[in-house]
Amino acid sequence: MDNLITGDLRNIEPLFKLKEFEFYHHDVSRFLHVPGKLDYILHFASPASPIDYLRIPIQTLKVGSLGTHNCLGLAMAKRARILVASTSEVYGDPTVHPQTEEYWGNVNPVGPRGVYDEAKRFQEAMTMAYHTAHGLETRIARIFNTYGPRMRLNDGRVLPAFIGQALRGEDLTVFGDGSQTRSFCYVDDLIEGIYRLLLSDYSHPMNLGNPEEITIAQFAEEIIKLTGTTQKVVYRSLPKDDPTQRQPDIAKAKSILGWEPKVSRAQGLKITYQYFRSLSREEWYRKEHKDFEDYSRRPSVE
Ligand SMILES: NC(=O)c1ccc[n+]([C@@H]2O[C@H](COP(=O)([O-])OP(=O)(O)OC[C@H]3O[C@@H](n4cnc5c(N)ncnc54)[C@H](O)[C@@H]3O)[C@@H](O)[C@H]2O)c1
Repeated sequence: MDNLITGDLRNIEPLFKLKEFEFYHHDVSRFLHVPGKLDYILHFASPASPIDYLRIPIQTLKVGSLGTHNCLGLAMAKRARILVASTSEVYGDPTVHPQTEEYWGNVNPVGPRGVYDEAKRFQEAMTMAYHTAHGLETRIARIFNTYGPRMRLNDGRVLPAFIGQALRGEDLTVFGDGSQTRSFCYVDDLIEGIYRLLLSDYSHPMNLGNPEEITIAQFAEEIIKLTGTTQKVVYRSLPKDDPTQRQPDIAKAKSILGWEPKVSRAQGLKITYQYFRSLSREEWYRKEHKDFEDYSRRPSVE
């Protein structure tokens, strides 16, 4: 189920020929109905990159709150187990490093990123309340930066942004002095972690991500080396509330799920770069996601 506000049907095209597969074009923030039996619900619907949630803040808050409420209601009705996609952003700009699940976070509720961070914090609170009040089987994945093929080149996240700039022969833009850190998890590793969490009996939030940390300045150099671009790094001022450090403590995932990432950044970046390089030049120069652009041109309905 997807309203395609930031998604792209081309990503799931190969699934349409499977007879077990059904697709609902629907906004989960509205009333939800799915006929028949459901065993598991995975609630991943949400704008996920800063460009998206800064331009559609109300929809972001709604899908984390009303959307989550609807999914929890559906799980209750179907007696299904539900896993919700939370985020490392619940830690905000963390004062604890690396971030363990016990850390409560440092979030500015009315800052520009607050719409995403607080939506996800509310999502966790609501999910936990359904677990304690109704005994619903719930799982909460706190996902850290994840990357891989099929991301949008211009979604505002640092990894596709750097690769896009390198492909177009532009300088790589670092915001701030580049000393802020990120930890990047390859998508296949994350999927394995989510699958194990779903099948586990652990109902508290669990960090899933790759603990290998890198500064953004070092990361830009890695991309320059990978792509062979002759461009340089340019520095711009840091956006408000940009987290300075981001590194998951995955001790819980290791001990409870027997999970840890296996794909190195070098391997994952190579696969991801090959994917972006295989796209048409039109894609390289595309400014925004098409469906998103169409949506943003509509008069506001919120
Ligand atoms: N990729 C990451 O690094 C990362 C990190 C932390 C958390 N997450 C979470 O994982 C989930 C998936 O992220 P992603 O990176 O795959 O993003 P994505 O934009 O590729 O996928 C999100 C999907 O949700 C859909 N959607 C948004 N609002 C909707 C609504 N109201 N109803 C139905 N569909 C809706 C979008 O159209 C899109 O297809 C999100 O909940 C995100 O917050 C992702």
